[in-house]
Amino acid sequence: MSNINRVIQSGYFNDTLRQWQCQNTHITSLNLIDEPDVKEEITSMPGVYRQGLNHVKSMLDPVVESGLKSLLIFGVINKLPKDQYGTHADSLENPVIQALPLLKNWYPELTIACDVCLCPYTSDGHCGIIENQLIDNGKSINRLGEIALSYALAGADIVAPSCMMDGHVTAIKQSLMKGNLLSRVSVLSYSAKFCSVFYGPFRDAANCAPSFSNRSSYQIPVGSSSIAERVVDRDVSESCDMTMVKPGIMYLDIVRKIKDKHPNIPLFIYQVSGEYAMLYHAVQAGVVTLKEGLLEILRSMRRAGGDVIITYYTPEILKWLKEVSPL
Ligand code: PBG
Repeated sequence: MSNINRVIQSGYFNDTLRQWQCQNTHITSLNLIDEPDVKEEITSMPGVYRQGLNHVKSMLDPVVESGLKSLLIFGVINKLPKDQYGTHADSLENPVIQALPLLKNWYPELTIACDVCLCPYTSDGHCGIIENQLIDNGKSINRLGEIALSYALAGADIVAPSCMMDGHVTAIKQSLMKGNLLSRVSVLSYSAKFCSVFYGPFRDAANCAPSFSNRSSYQIPVGSSSIAERVVDRDVSESCDMTMVKPGIMYLDIVRKIKDKHPNIPLFIYQVSGEYAMLYHAVQAGVVTLKEGLLEILRSMRRAGGDVIITYYTPEILKWLKEVSPL
């Protein structure tokens, strides 16, 4: 591992990646990329769409215009077949592989992160490879390494494993090293990912709910702070470039602990689909206004120690950032 314990060259020639290392606040947008002609509003997340390549540009143009610096993309497939190994996670027909060169061409300044996971592509909907009803950790991380390398080769600036498999950072870094991509591509690990019910709307949208059991054998039990600390320690020791706590609002105690323990690793907070939906419905019911409610949440995330916030509300936030004091 020592040969990939590199700090300065892990993709930091990209301006946005360098700024994150300086601990500036950034807001990152999320996009679900579907097969080319699809444009479908997600029922449980009004205002958020799954869309294919034929629609992405018209949606992103105004957001980039209003200052978007980075984007996290997820692939969704409907017609392509799913199997045990998630073959279409990195096939030439995969929507992320197809979108990356176009996005890079349309928006050369945009930093693009790709979610790396198997669940949208496996027939059982699990995040790793299942053998005899159990996750096979070794096979899973090898496969995730291959997928990350394919996204990196297609143009991703960041690969972001969200699978919660042990050793995923090492497997991905080694794979990037083989492709000679370590100096261009950073690894953002979804290190502290809790086994949350607030992922429900996303699972509907990405059509990736597990077909049996749940994800509790690899995601963190809601009440555990010690596992969250240990998985972040593990990922930091494996040289991840950035780490994450997910979901956001219910786990700000974990954010503070991780920030205190690893002040030098940029810490991301992922405001998940259920958090989006909760706030959306609170606004509909007249409980708070979107702007006031969301700014309070974002400021609380900053106070807790989050450096970068990933949220489906980015297009709205970018409009306000011009008028409100910095987060
Ligand atoms: C799984 C993955 C999930 C999300 C992103 N990647 C959910 C899960 O574990 O089922 C959730 C995102 C959200 O709720 O916004 N690889």
